[in-house]
Amino acid sequence: MIQRNDPCWCGSGKKWKKCHFPQKDSDTSKYYLDKYGIIIKTPNQIEKIKVACTTAASILDTLCKAAKEGVTTNELDILSQKLHKQKKAIPAPLGYGQPPFPKTVCTSVNEVICHGIPNDIPLKNGDIINIDVTSIIDGFYGDCSRMVIIGKTTEEKKKVVDVSYQCLIKAIEACKIGVFLNIIGQTIEDYARSQGFSVVNQFVGHGVGIDFHEPPQVPHHYNDMTIPLVENMVFTIEPMINVGVREAVIDTNDNWTARTKDNKPSAQWEHTLLITKKGAEILTLCPN
Ligand code: MF3
Ligand code: CO
Ligand code: CO
Repeated sequence: MIQRNDPCWCGSGKKWKKCHFPQKDSDTSKYYLDKYGIIIKTPNQIEKIKVACTTAASILDTLCKAAKEGVTTNELDILSQKLHKQKKAIPAPLGYGQPPFPKTVCTSVNEVICHGIPNDIPLKNGDIINIDVTSIIDGFYGDCSRMVIIGKTTEEKKKVVDVSYQCLIKAIEACKIGVFLNIIGQTIEDYARSQGFSVVNQFVGHGVGIDFHEPPQVPHHYNDMTIPLVENMVFTIEPMINVGVREAVIDTNDNWTARTKDNKPSAQWEHTLLITKKGAEILTLCPN
């Protein structure tokens, strides 16, 4: 029998799951796939994505509780490996991309915006760290991240942690069926600017569930994407908010670590969302 990752029978050269894999039999699904490349999820797919999402959220919760002064981000990665095994989940970052991401989680400390690679440097008092977990279960993906403040930090770092969280929550609350996708960037950039902070525009949220990164891109900055939100869309919102300039510089040694150009602090929170009749349902809430 044809498997999800096999080439599609139609000869498109795409994977079956991204091509003629059975979709919800509606005009909307066909239109969104044809026009935007967006896979509107079926009830069966949603059920499985929910499992991946609660698993990722639960692993993230344990990692956040383990992030303390003196602990290294490599130790968090080892714990993440162990938790994924226990839950029969695959950590999506490991081996992802080019060059292949070398660890099972992203750990982004202070001026690191995202895609920080776990290392042997112990966390120290005053650090702020983003931990980003993406778990695969039965081929389906859930993606989420949170900030942890290590010990006592500065007012400025506390504020960027808080503002980035508020940006995520306000954007989630703005999502309703029929509203354009760019309400997200509008909501986030309005609030970040009102607090004197900038919004990273070199990285975006994304469709997720069947693959790690699917259409659409979900910008957190002002943009003109007039895609109406429809029921059973699944995507992330993951605003990266900077104290200083918005520009990111990617480390030329590892080709992953993205830092603020001015080395001022940055913070990020991420949820995977499902659009329902009631708005955006957060799928990556911690189950316990
Ligand atoms: N989890 C990140 C996101 O939110 C992506 C990380 S890619 C990796 O989209 F390779 F660094 F893991
Ligand atoms: Co993501
Ligand atoms: Co993520």
